[in-house]
Amino acid sequence: MNTDMSIDSNLKEIVEELKRYLEFQESMGLKTVPAYNKETENGTQLITEKEALRTEPMATKNNQTEEDIIIIEEPVNLFDTKIMTLEEIREEIGDCIRCKLHEGRTNLVFGDGNPKAKLVFVGEGPGRDEDMQGKPFVGRSGKLLTKIIEAMGLKREDVYICNVVKCRPPDNRTPEPNEMSTCEQFLFKQIRFIKPEVIVCLGATAAKSILRTKASLGSLRGKFHMYSGTKLMVTYHPAALLRNPHFKKPAWEDMQVVMKELGLPLPKN
Ligand code: URA
Repeated sequence: MNTDMSIDSNLKEIVEELKRYLEFQESMGLKTVPAYNKETENGTQLITEKEALRTEPMATKNNQTEEDIIIIEEPVNLFDTKIMTLEEIREEIGDCIRCKLHEGRTNLVFGDGNPKAKLVFVGEGPGRDEDMQGKPFVGRSGKLLTKIIEAMGLKREDVYICNVVKCRPPDNRTPEPNEMSTCEQFLFKQIRFIKPEVIVCLGATAAKSILRTKASLGSLRGKFHMYSGTKLMVTYHPAALLRNPHFKKPAWEDMQVVMKELGLPLPKN
């Protein structure tokens, strides 16, 4: 057999095989085909499926300046775009051992509040009290957060409160990047289900993690960013307000912007 003909028939076989594969994928409801390529300094590079399926934001702005408003899409995993209920998400987390934070955990802190909330608060991770009770923001910071919510004319039960990581980091240290990247998928699913009108990130850790930015809290706060079509405000963590009472005024200004967006009556000065 001549070599050209053999290449031809091999190619034909590959194309047929690919066609069958794509038809099968389509019959399974897949609408797009992942191409496992990544742009690098040295041109396009083929990456493994595992790497490709790591949740990456669809649009990350590099070279952000401090004044920028960040617009970002929910990090998507092509095979995981279903809207799960909060119960299903909790079930998927299970008795989690995905990262080392499970080792020191008493209770996993999933989240708490109204599943139909217009407003979602996202903190960093559970502290000691939260770990003991299995509920977010129930310690000193939580009491201050409750006061803030009430000052906004809402009740705690009206909003939804959760964290980037669901297990307490030892000695309340900042969660490590790998702990956040392991756990954040559940936060994204919680937000996807609740579909709030506004998300408030409490503190730099939650903000940097969701907005994929290294910008300072001071430069991020005070204006709406966009997360997957939802307005997102960054403000000081209640623990920072307890340490530095002079942050209370700007934090309250941030909450007034949120109140305005939600159509809540603003206090008369
Ligand atoms: N700090 C957080 O970031 N989250 C909590 O749930 C409690 C304190």
